[in-house]
Amino acid sequence: MNKFRVFIPNKILGNAVDYLKQYVDVDYIPVEDMLSSKEFLAHVSQADGLMIPSRNKITKTVLEQAPHLKAVCNMAVGFDNLDLKALTDRGIYATNAPGVLTETTADLAFGLLLATARRIPEADEFVQQGQWLGWKPSMLLGHEVHGQTLGIIGYGRIGRAIARRAVGFDMQVLYNDQVRNQEEEARYGTTFAERDELIKNSDFVLLQVPLTPETKGIIGAREFGLMKKNAIFINASRGQVIDQNALTQALAEEKIAAAGLDTYIDEPIKPNDPLVQMKNVVTLPHIGSATLETRTAMESIAAKNMIQIFNGGIPDNLVNEKLRTK
Ligand code: DGY
Repeated sequence: MNKFRVFIPNKILGNAVDYLKQYVDVDYIPVEDMLSSKEFLAHVSQADGLMIPSRNKITKTVLEQAPHLKAVCNMAVGFDNLDLKALTDRGIYATNAPGVLTETTADLAFGLLLATARRIPEADEFVQQGQWLGWKPSMLLGHEVHGQTLGIIGYGRIGRAIARRAVGFDMQVLYNDQVRNQEEEARYGTTFAERDELIKNSDFVLLQVPLTPETKGIIGAREFGLMKKNAIFINASRGQVIDQNALTQALAEEKIAAAGLDTYIDEPIKPNDPLVQMKNVVTLPHIGSATLETRTAMESIAAKNMIQIFNGGIPDNLVNEKLRTK
């Protein structure tokens, strides 16, 4: 019997390729950069399974070139890169890699908050450029973090992990989600707030929602207008959950004090984008899960899901639930 063929279009950091090879044929291209669309599609057309990071979009057009495809296993917790309806209509299983990146992504989001509030990247540049000529009373003054109110919109695994860090910094934590989590409230002293109340009362407004049709553009001009004038906005989830032009405008008009971003509407963001140019904005290149340990664990989860599918089972991290009873 022919073995299934799994295509991986980028370098793998751990041993997921060897693991897969025990069960399937692996078409592995160990590159850092993205393949051209032509090359990607040429390999996809031969594949039974795809193991991909979230930079690869699986659209209807891609699926038209993939006659054999049975499984798409994301090496990411987000799966907004997948046209889930089209995959489900074709009976193709889709999976994500949740859990293993929770703490790492929370570390990055909280680090971004600290870096933005205390102007750490700007201070580093200041020293490197030889501008530090001595102590000055108002040199690089930042914003307080401890004792401030952090509002977290999106209280899933990562949102909750950020809240725990904030509690350790003596911050008050407000959160908003579709459901209240009274157990977490009792354990960590966090408080549920309606979204507008959270936005109005927080010194830091942090978004940690997945990108879905419901969350697309949930923070726009109206919401930036509700924030405190000294508010700091943090987004390390997905760029499309905010109106990025409205953020640029809110910063330019000093409606809010600063922003820390790890994700953007279009990635990579251009170096001449006003958000990159503004001194009070810290821009990171979508590195929430970027540690060797976490990236390796994400690869392993994706590979395990793949083999569960090719063994005829239901994968642990199925995201198109409709296929559970296929
Ligand atoms: C994720 O896992 O969704 C990260 O943002 C990487 O894409």
